[in-house]
Amino acid sequence: MKERERKMRKPQGKVAIVTGASKGIGASIATHLAAEGAAVVVNYATSKAGADRVVSAMATRGGKAIAVQANVAHTAEIERLFAATEHVVGRLDMLVNNAAIIEFRPREGITEEHVYTPCNVHLLGPIFATQHAVQHCGSEGGSIINMRAAASRGPQPGGAVSSASTGALESLTRACANERGPHKIRVKAMRPGLVETEGVRAAGVMESPERTYSTSRAPCGRIGQPSDIAMVAVFLASSDSGWITGETLRVQGGVR
Ligand SMILES: NC(=O)c1ccc[n+]([C@@H]2O[C@H](COP(=O)([O-])OP(=O)(O)OC[C@H]3O[C@@H](n4cnc5c(N)ncnc54)[C@H](OP(=O)(O)O)[C@@H]3O)[C@@H](O)[C@H]2O)c1
Repeated sequence: MKERERKMRKPQGKVAIVTGASKGIGASIATHLAAEGAAVVVNYATSKAGADRVVSAMATRGGKAIAVQANVAHTAEIERLFAATEHVVGRLDMLVNNAAIIEFRPREGITEEHVYTPCNVHLLGPIFATQHAVQHCGSEGGSIINMRAAASRGPQPGGAVSSASTGALESLTRACANERGPHKIRVKAMRPGLVETEGVRAAGVMESPERTYSTSRAPCGRIGQPSDIAMVAVFLASSDSGWITGETLRVQGGVR
């Protein structure tokens, strides 16, 4: 393939929303998409300063981005996120459902609230964001990526709710891919292994047995960095992955 044709398949000129992009994996995905020429909506819930930092870092490298606050656990705020995108950039090609709460809670400490909140962020959010995204994608179609947690794999106790609530994203991905395929909208999920992010550090995982487990079991010999995930997300978001839909891709340094 000629270099010019190859470049045209990249996200140049496309518009992406990345939820939960004020830090961690979402910030890296947003930054990598902008570096490839996409205009990016950097969504955040509470960390305005973090989102503004991500946007200005992109701007200094010539990227186009805006920060939009919206708590994706609430349908009215999701609606506002898409309305702001429509208002500022007028179209949508890619959605990355990345926002999440990283929380470990022993089984006996789980209350109704500790189930509702992750389910709303991890499942309700992607369902309604997808509902809006498919209405905003044009005749060229688009790409949706759902990010799921892998908390059920290692010895870290207390990841059951997080794992269950994001595990449902794999079924959602498959169902949406089937429904939206005829409209040229591809839906994929990613299942990262342990990645060093602000959320992981705040949850104490870097000092936990989970980290030792993930490092010792990884053929790659290390845990992940946000850019390890972001580069794959850019591939999945772009038409370079035009024959992939409905799949969940593990990006875990070889940990099984
Ligand atoms: N790091 C890992 O080891 C790992 C492994 C497997 C999967 N993942 C997945 O990768 C994704 C990113 O994880 P991460 O480690 O980068 O997390 P992180 O560092 O904790 O960042 C989480 C992001 O989500 C946002 N967020 C949280 N609740 C939100 C809400 N209700 N509405 C909108 N945004 C919200 C946060 O925004 P504010 O700061 O504004 O609240 C922040 O930008 C998640 O889907 C996670 O399940 C991570």
